[in-house]
Amino acid sequence: MRYQPLPAELFTENRQRLYAKLPPQSVVIVHANDVLPTNADGSLPFIQNSDQFYLSGVDQEETILVLFPGAQDPKQREMLLVRETNETIAVWEGEKLTKEQAAQRSGIQRVHWLQDFETQFRSVMCQADHVFLNSNEHIRATIPTETRETRFTRRCMREYPLHDYRRLAPLMHELRVIKSPHELTALNEAIRITGDGFNRLLKFVKPGVQEFEIEAELSHEFIRQRARGFAYTPIIASGGNACVLHYITNHCQCHDGELLLLDVAANYGNYNADLTRTIPVNGKFTARQRQVYDAVLRVFKQCCKILRPGIIIREYQEQVGLIMQEELLGLGLITQEDIAKQDPDKPAYKKYFPHGTSHPLGIDVHDVGHMWKPVQPGMVFTVEPGIYIREEKLGIRLENNIVIGENSNLDLMAHIPIEADDIEAAMKR
Ligand code: GLY
Ligand code: MN
Ligand code: MN
Repeated sequence: MRYQPLPAELFTENRQRLYAKLPPQSVVIVHANDVLPTNADGSLPFIQNSDQFYLSGVDQEETILVLFPGAQDPKQREMLLVRETNETIAVWEGEKLTKEQAAQRSGIQRVHWLQDFETQFRSVMCQADHVFLNSNEHIRATIPTETRETRFTRRCMREYPLHDYRRLAPLMHELRVIKSPHELTALNEAIRITGDGFNRLLKFVKPGVQEFEIEAELSHEFIRQRARGFAYTPIIASGGNACVLHYITNHCQCHDGELLLLDVAANYGNYNADLTRTIPVNGKFTARQRQVYDAVLRVFKQCCKILRPGIIIREYQEQVGLIMQEELLGLGLITQEDIAKQDPDKPAYKKYFPHGTSHPLGIDVHDVGHMWKPVQPGMVFTVEPGIYIREEKLGIRLENNIVIGENSNLDLMAHIPIEADDIEAAMKR
């Protein structure tokens, strides 16, 4: 693990907040993610289950977390079960957590080796009434494979069919959507590293450079600063590629006169930044590019003002749509007539701004949250309007990360250049 561990106090507090939401005699069991196979004997790098990390701070495969706050035996109230190392693991994979390290990281005193799981599992199931199991209930997730959690749920229901099974996911969403100061510290570090990467690019990008060279440059900056790497597959899109929302091949050359859309950010300590900037490849916006850029920037600034406590994301999106509609009219991209005859389910502005404006951000890039509950202080969102004009091979998006505050929002990326003049000044050689 290259990052500095987050304080165990964070994970202890997270568990305490969860206990306050549980009925008496509840047990919560949360598994690590699978190590996903690729081909032959290959596998993808391990990414910890976000909820297990949130409740334990442990970043190791196969870990099981068992929380039974009402257990008669105090030793069973919080248990962490981790993989025991051996000579083969030591030779092939290297260090694994000792019991002491796992306890230190998580604040959980009772750490067992995984081979004790069956005994402890039987014991808690014979005492508990309600069993909270985890599932991925992100509204946009598609999950074609059976996860470790799903396999375990099936097992529990088969072996203990008379228990009262409950969904842990809604409780985790309620907890995770409000970020604590320790979480903001980790997120700010991801953002600081992201900003350093972007500033490095302002001096690096020039006509003729390849999109993948830019990716390599960023990767170097992120990893040398202890990031896990990219928070998500980076989008480095020059010219018309910027109009492909999920362009990730990054295989083209950047040409003089084009814009370059960079949706690139670092993950630090399992927390994700999410930045987008759009810059001129040659360091100077054309008049048309500047006109569209400033329109996106005005929308961005308005969005930051209306994403405030009390608003529901759906209403926010509608208000942003109207602001965008005005800008698109101003740019001559849509007409009053287009608006008059638009399908209300597919307003005219969507032709040039087809995606949402904001999503919660945290341990997951598209973090868990509520579409239908009012925005509250302590939530962290992206703000990311864009205008994509395929007929002009021109796509511009700007994206910052903000914390919703009682009296005003805090833009965590305010220090990363966003005004067109500042971008041009920083690109001057
Ligand atoms: N980078 C993914 C997003 O902006 O939502
Ligand atoms: Mn993004
Ligand atoms: Mn985003």
